[in-house]
Amino acid sequence: MELKSGTAAIVTGGASGLGLASAKALADQGFKVAIFDVNTDEGPAKAQEIGGLFCHVDITDEQSVVDGFAAAREAHGQERLTVHCAMTSKRGKTIGWDKENGCYKRLSTEDYAYGAEGILVSSYRIASHSALGMANSDPLNDDGERGAIVLTASVAAQDGQIGQVIYGSCKSGVNGLVLPMARDLMDMGIRVNSVMPGIFATPLMLGMKDRNPQMWEPDLLAAVGEASAPDSVAATYSVAGAVRRGLESAGFSLERLPGYGRKREMLRAIRTLPDPA
Ligand SMILES: NC(=O)c1ccc[n+]([C@@H]2O[C@H](COP(=O)([O-])OP(=O)(O)OC[C@H]3O[C@@H](n4cnc5c(N)ncnc54)[C@H](O)[C@@H]3O)[C@@H](O)[C@H]2O)c1
Repeated sequence: MELKSGTAAIVTGGASGLGLASAKALADQGFKVAIFDVNTDEGPAKAQEIGGLFCHVDITDEQSVVDGFAAAREAHGQERLTVHCAMTSKRGKTIGWDKENGCYKRLSTEDYAYGAEGILVSSYRIASHSALGMANSDPLNDDGERGAIVLTASVAAQDGQIGQVIYGSCKSGVNGLVLPMARDLMDMGIRVNSVMPGIFATPLMLGMKDRNPQMWEPDLLAAVGEASAPDSVAATYSVAGAVRRGLESAGFSLERLPGYGRKREMLRAIRTLPDPA
């Protein structure tokens, strides 16, 4: 689908990270961009930098989304492209260790529902409201094309890691939305796709690293060492100094190897010291 310069576009989560990069790229190509975001500290300035419009929209709130679409359409006309990047979720293992109480605890159903709302339900909300506006607008060309919607899944949709039970399953749901929705909308000339990015450095990602330091704590790596028989092999895509030092002091000898796909390097760790038992 060819979307010409001057076309209206909406980018959710456009105040930061992937959304901001998308908003900038679209503005550079002459799109009239409206950013939907809850970040009122930075969002308006970011929108101004790209000559766009900032709409204070909470993607988890139906009325806020309805109002946002109305404001963006009033300023720029009907959007023909919607790029949905915003999301909000929680993190945690299905069953995790509760240090304070010395027992296992369950990730609550409420926490799961919060992530399902912030990732999956809001993807439906944004895509379906945008599709309604496109469907009720004239086609852009003789082929009957009316617009395109891009949702954001993640590599975690197919390869969810420990602690990503909410994120991985709901991002998988985002991918699941695409085919039936695209079929629902194909007669109206509305295209629906999703992207599955790998890891890239954004405030979301960097914040997550800080919130999850226990993954690489020396105590955990020492416990891995204790539980590993001589010649056991471990591998990780992290080659950070703290990880290397932790593995070495846990009795592993290390080898750096080329990674796969977007991962430039990986570590192979072999338990070389004799079993303490
Ligand atoms: N960063 C990564 O490594 C990575 C990898 C795969 C997928 N993704 C996906 O890319 C998308 C963007 O992530 P990012 O890393 O750029 O994040 P980010 O934190 O840099 O940006 C997210 C933006 O969404 C906004 N936002 C949060 N809650 C909102 C709400 N309720 N309503 C409206 N706006 C809200 C934030 O204010 C922020 O501006 C997400 O869907 C994320 O799951 C990111």
